Amino acid sequence: MRRHGWRLGLLVLVMSFVFAASAAAQSGQLEIFSWWAGDEGPALEALIERYESLYPDVDVINATVTGGSGVNAKAVLKTRMLGGDPPATFQVHAGQELIGTWVLAERMEDLTFLYEQEGWFDVLPEELIKLLSTEDGIWSVPVNIHRSNVMYYIPENLEKWGVDVPKTWDEFLTIAPKLQAQGIVPLSLGENWTVIHLWESVALAVLGPDGWESLWAGELSWTSPEVVETWELLGRILEYTNSDAPSLTWQQATDMIVDGEAAFNIMGDWASGYMSTTLGLEAGTGFGWAPSPGTEGIFMMLADSFGLPKGSPNREATLAWLRTVGSREGQDIFNPLKGSISPRLDSDLSLYDTYGRSAARDWQNSRIVGSLQHGVVANERFMNDFATVMEIFLSSRNAVAASNAAQAVAAQAGIGF
Ligand code: GAL
Repeated sequence: MRRHGWRLGLLVLVMSFVFAASAAAQSGQLEIFSWWAGDEGPALEALIERYESLYPDVDVINATVTGGSGVNAKAVLKTRMLGGDPPATFQVHAGQELIGTWVLAERMEDLTFLYEQEGWFDVLPEELIKLLSTEDGIWSVPVNIHRSNVMYYIPENLEKWGVDVPKTWDEFLTIAPKLQAQGIVPLSLGENWTVIHLWESVALAVLGPDGWESLWAGELSWTSPEVVETWELLGRILEYTNSDAPSLTWQQATDMIVDGEAAFNIMGDWASGYMSTTLGLEAGTGFGWAPSPGTEGIFMMLADSFGLPKGSPNREATLAWLRTVGSREGQDIFNPLKGSISPRLDSDLSLYDTYGRSAARDWQNSRIVGSLQHGVVANERFMNDFATVMEIFLSSRNAVAASNAAQAVAAQAGIGF
């Protein structure tokens, strides 16, 4: 062993020179495009700081287009990509948002070589890599795992109002009038996409994980009674939401529970990040959480990732960014601030708060299914049209018409066919 010690030392020395040399070689501008602006910014900003400390000569442009779930950013991105002006790298969800949109259009570079170089095959879950891959390659690097089916509340408020966290939608519908009688909005809601977010949790409860997956595999028709029931139930739940929902961001809907105007909110766990990092509340005491009603033991997941578009203006600096995004250090800086967990099997959970540790446990022990609103199960084409279906449902409240429209949209977008 000792005889080889000096060789190992030399190798480490040489490697660090190589690394220092390649780090120093990165220069020019790097435009990172995402929707993590303002309140949603701290985690990305911390990751960029990490990158800047490794690659001080790169001039990072943190290009954000505000709007939850990327509703505005994705439209801008589309114009830029189609106009031949891609950013160096952009935020994109694992699953169909990546594969059925940008990979299908042959706009991304294969990153398999980077996975090999960085040893990511050994530290990332196989199922997640599958969501980022086709037969021809691996198309982006994941930075996190978020959970979509979470119900938030403020424990001391529930106590004051004399209600428990509902485990089913029936329970919710029973306690909602009691809250209303006290002048409290039972469930706070925001703009259109947050209603789709709510619908996916409701649909998961009604259809169960197998039913949810059959819907996306084209084995369960949108016009089947079960799916019609998801719209009917959504309609009943909407009776107990705030009337100004269309004008509120997801953060404002979260603020309603924090300010004691509403009892519950269903959101992805970026709301944990917002409440702990931005609002300074303590997970567990300052705010509480539970699986959305009827979804105990199920983890509806999504993952944010970054890719390398063809024609990326600064390929080398972008690859260095992707290395930082996929690294253990980078992920354990980003995720504790974001409310998400690192997909890496070697993540250091001592760096996460009570919420993060509970999400990590649930990620290991739950049935995993993919989110609709956040890119896993359907492509952009479907999502755009589905937002219109939701808009029509919101004004008509006609469950059968919504199911029929969704079936047509699914057929056009090639879902399950
Ligand atoms: C999701 C995204 C999250 C968070 C959220 C709200 O689509 O994956 O990271 O940004 O939107 O904007």
